[in-house]
Amino acid sequence: MTRFFYDGQNCESLNGESVLDTLIREGHQVNYSCKKGACKTCLVKHVEGELSTGSQRGLTLSLKRNHYVCACQCEPTPGLKLKSVLVQDLFIPAQIHSKEYLSDSVVKLLITSSEKLNHCAGQYINLRRFDGLTRSYAIANDPCSNEIELHVRRKYNGQFSDWLFNHASVGESLLLQGPWGHCCYSSAYVDDDLTLIASGTGLGPIYGIAKDAIKSGHRGEINLYHGAKNSNELYQHANLLQLMLENRNFTYHACIPPSQKEGALKLSRVHIGDPFDIATAHKPIKEELNSKSRHRVYLCGEPDFVTRGQASAFLNGVPLKRMHVLSFEYKDLRTVPR
Ligand code: FES
Repeated sequence: MTRFFYDGQNCESLNGESVLDTLIREGHQVNYSCKKGACKTCLVKHVEGELSTGSQRGLTLSLKRNHYVCACQCEPTPGLKLKSVLVQDLFIPAQIHSKEYLSDSVVKLLITSSEKLNHCAGQYINLRRFDGLTRSYAIANDPCSNEIELHVRRKYNGQFSDWLFNHASVGESLLLQGPWGHCCYSSAYVDDDLTLIASGTGLGPIYGIAKDAIKSGHRGEINLYHGAKNSNELYQHANLLQLMLENRNFTYHACIPPSQKEGALKLSRVHIGDPFDIATAHKPIKEELNSKSRHRVYLCGEPDFVTRGQASAFLNGVPLKRMHVLSFEYKDLRTVPR
């Protein structure tokens, strides 16, 4: 058992517990989502005492300098003193500017904030609603816009996504934190061949990255693969076909599983099968290792999908440093009292 202090109160961690686990078990009001060091909704401030390795991993320099710590990554050390953070220190006011349903289960939101954010497609933000519930969402639009575009899938029993999908209205006030993450396009990649692979609403950031690359005058090939459960979930099919018609170096590949083959008949240019298999068959990366063009892979979607994509790309000769990933890490909190 290790004793540490949170807002001056005595906390006792059990073996193997993180600071966050202890705070939750002892009934403190703390925010959290992924519990994996990714979302940064669980930040607390370090006051005194030894910090365990990794407590600040993944934080920006300015957060580190200001003594923020991820409670889920921090192992309690004897005598460690931490304090809660003020919402206004980390969040800025924001508002839902518009809301558009893209399919039966996906809504597009445009969010405006009180300050201009230097965001890019492929990063993510945290949104906090009136009761303190906070969730991370991937950014789907390029840096030129003042608004942040999000594609939100209504998750079965997902508290925040269901609220955004069904109840939150235009003008709704929120708080916003971020942007975070590095899964972005850079003009340094202008001659690289890009393979962009998304599952579900991972398409939002992937589509944004493609548009960002095209706008930046990308010269290499861009292949975008969207893996969907069925044809109804190919929610940007027409727009992506149009983008393909307008740009010679951009190709869109819709992918749905063999069990949904029937539904695909009504749409043009839909592949049947796994997006990784289709991507590998279409563009065998290993064969290109000796050519001048470099291959770069972007992966966005659920954690299992991203992990599988990384393994597939690696086995096909893409080094890790040329993979850019945005994994929708979250913890199912439905059985955990908040
Ligand atoms: S970073 Fe700690 S809960 Fe996500």
